[in-house]
Amino acid sequence: MGDNYRSLVLAEYITRHFPPPIRVADVAGGNGTLNDILSVREYEVVTFDPNLRMKYPNRKGQAVRFYADIALAFDLVVGMHPDQATEEIVYATKHCPIIVVPCCNFWIGREMPPSRSIRGTIERYLHFKEIPFVKERLEITGPNIVYRTF
Ligand SMILES: C[S@@+](CC[C@H](N)C(=O)[O-])C[C@H]1O[C@@H](n2cnc3c(N)ncnc32)[C@H](O)[C@@H]1O
Repeated sequence: MGDNYRSLVLAEYITRHFPPPIRVADVAGGNGTLNDILSVREYEVVTFDPNLRMKYPNRKGQAVRFYADIALAFDLVVGMHPDQATEEIVYATKHCPIIVVPCCNFWIGREMPPSRSIRGTIERYLHFKEIPFVKERLEITGPNIVYRTF
């Protein structure tokens, strides 16, 4: 089960909780699959990924690293397995809601030092900042715990 399936499941989740039309920052979006699915559904989407490899030339993307203040221009920040971008996605909660499905632990600790697991770090940060969140399981293979703020 590859990009399409994973992105489709996340798109369904996004649509259920944050219906269009809203502006979405698709962080670490890689080849733009999630961007394309959301764009078809009338979301306004920009993908941020330093290794952008967009399969969809009519979709918007920037080959840059995401940082939290980019979220000022969006209504929602999403990240599927966002590797080194996870920390800045979580910091983006100061500006707007996020939906993130973390995978590897690349947390450096710009605002708060890491715990042993990426999920532990995210939960500690959100508790510390008193940001309400829900933690759910997506029906995908691989890392499948999603965090959603409001
Ligand atoms: C494991 S891949 C996941 C790609 C895609 N979301 C998916 O599910 O197939 C991680 C992606 O994170 C991107 N990435 C790493 N650091 C980033 C950063 N600081 N900002 C945005 N994207 C980043 C990488 O270039 C890579 O495309």
